[in-house]
Amino acid sequence: MTTSSSLLNLFFLLLTFTIKLKFAIAGGTVKDIDGNVLNITSKYSILPSIENHGGVTVAKTEVKNQLLVVLSSSALPVTFTDSNSTKAILTDDIVSVNFTNIPKYNGSSSWIVIYDKSAKVPYVAVGSAKDYPSHQIKTGTFKIESIGALYKFVFCSDIANTSCKDVGVYQENGGIKRLALTGNASLIKFKKDSI
Ligand SMILES: *[C@@H]1O[C@H](CO)[C@@H](O)[C@H](O)[C@H]1NC(C)=O
Ligand SMILES: *[C@@H]1O[C@H](CO)[C@@H](O)[C@H](O)[C@H]1NC(C)=O
Ligand SMILES: *[C@@H]1O[C@H](CO)[C@@H](O)[C@H](O)[C@H]1NC(C)=O
Ligand SMILES: *[C@@H]1O[C@H](CO)[C@@H](O)[C@H](O)[C@H]1NC(C)=O
Ligand SMILES: *[C@@H]1O[C@H](CO)[C@@H](O)[C@H](O)[C@H]1NC(C)=O
Ligand SMILES: *[C@@H]1O[C@H](CO)[C@@H](O)[C@H](O)[C@H]1NC(C)=O
Repeated sequence: MTTSSSLLNLFFLLLTFTIKLKFAIAGGTVKDIDGNVLNITSKYSILPSIENHGGVTVAKTEVKNQLLVVLSSSALPVTFTDSNSTKAILTDDIVSVNFTNIPKYNGSSSWIVIYDKSAKVPYVAVGSAKDYPSHQIKTGTFKIESIGALYKFVFCSDIANTSCKDVGVYQENGGIKRLALTGNASLIKFKKDSI
């Protein structure tokens, strides 16, 4: 190899690094299982990384309008809103997650994190603070982060991303599988809803 061609190689190597670095800083896009970037207009099922293991949906509680976000046999589609972007959903951006068409429910359908004695860790529920008068509401924001070709949700109690907790599955005595701030991430993927 001549000196000039190795210099040229070095140049391209540096260029590649610069581009990769730029993407790393700018945050990547979140893609569904077909490779399309998630956007705010489509509905998506949130599925666990393992095939045919159900999906993320709601579970009723004894209290009217108090719904848990759980992993169960089938998924209920969600929409995403990205605070930073008008269309595409990006990793590390603040996103809000809303279920679409929760049966027999007409309250706020967005995800929040609450805390009470029913679980050892804060867990994900549906609604707004007023629906949970006897719970503590954990203030913070959801973000989607990529892990290889898969993703995880994190919940960050400040915008600076200094105290993000992984969203995983919390299950007590073989009971329902709540999404909760377990610190042990559940790897997930997104499937665009055909309807
Ligand atoms: C959103 O994504 C879907 C498929 O991934 C695409 O059909 C649709 O046109 C997109 N909408 C916008 C506004 O980009
Ligand atoms: C907007 O995007 C940048 C770069 O991805 C990120 O650092 C920042 O936290 C985002 N802001 C919000 C409010 O999501
Ligand atoms: C819809 O919400 C309103 C106000 O919260 C309530 O009065 C009404 O009964 C609800 N309707 C149904 C079908 O749940
Ligand atoms: C999601 O829910 C929040 C809070 O109820 C609401 O402000 C927002 O508009 C909803 N987003 C969508 C896409 O429905
Ligand atoms: C945000 O925090 C998560 C979890 O602590 C970490 O994996 C991720 O790299 C952080 N993102 C940024 C942009 O600092
Ligand atoms: C995290 O999850 C893995 C696999 O499900 C499990 O083996 C491990 O014990 C968990 N760790 C904690 C701290 O819960």
